Amino acid sequence: MAFRIGRGSRATGWQRVAAVEEVPPEELTAVQSDAGPVVLANVDGAIYALEDRCSHQDYPLSGGDLEDGQIECPFHGARFDACTGRATMLPAVAPVRVFEVEIRDGAVHILLG
Ligand code: FES
Repeated sequence: MAFRIGRGSRATGWQRVAAVEEVPPEELTAVQSDAGPVVLANVDGAIYALEDRCSHQDYPLSGGDLEDGQIECPFHGARFDACTGRATMLPAVAPVRVFEVEIRDGAVHILLG
């Protein structure tokens, strides 16, 4: 694992967060990273990683639904594009942070920092 702590103890570098088989198709999977909680979304076999925090009121998105590439927040119904983090339905207007994803050796790695 390529991992280092940058200035100010901010986690940077690639981190393994799950095995690929732990992220079933068309489901959301909550994982922990050194940058905080992350939600993984498997959209048609492609895995995306987003900060597990709704931009509306900071509640976790991982308890929500994934449908047609959209994550729906379980709290007030905001929606986000799972690929880009863009808010697509009110009450959220700001995007959710997304992480670059790489699949290596059967595992999901995300780029922190
Ligand atoms: S916390 Fe997600 S829509 Fe309000």
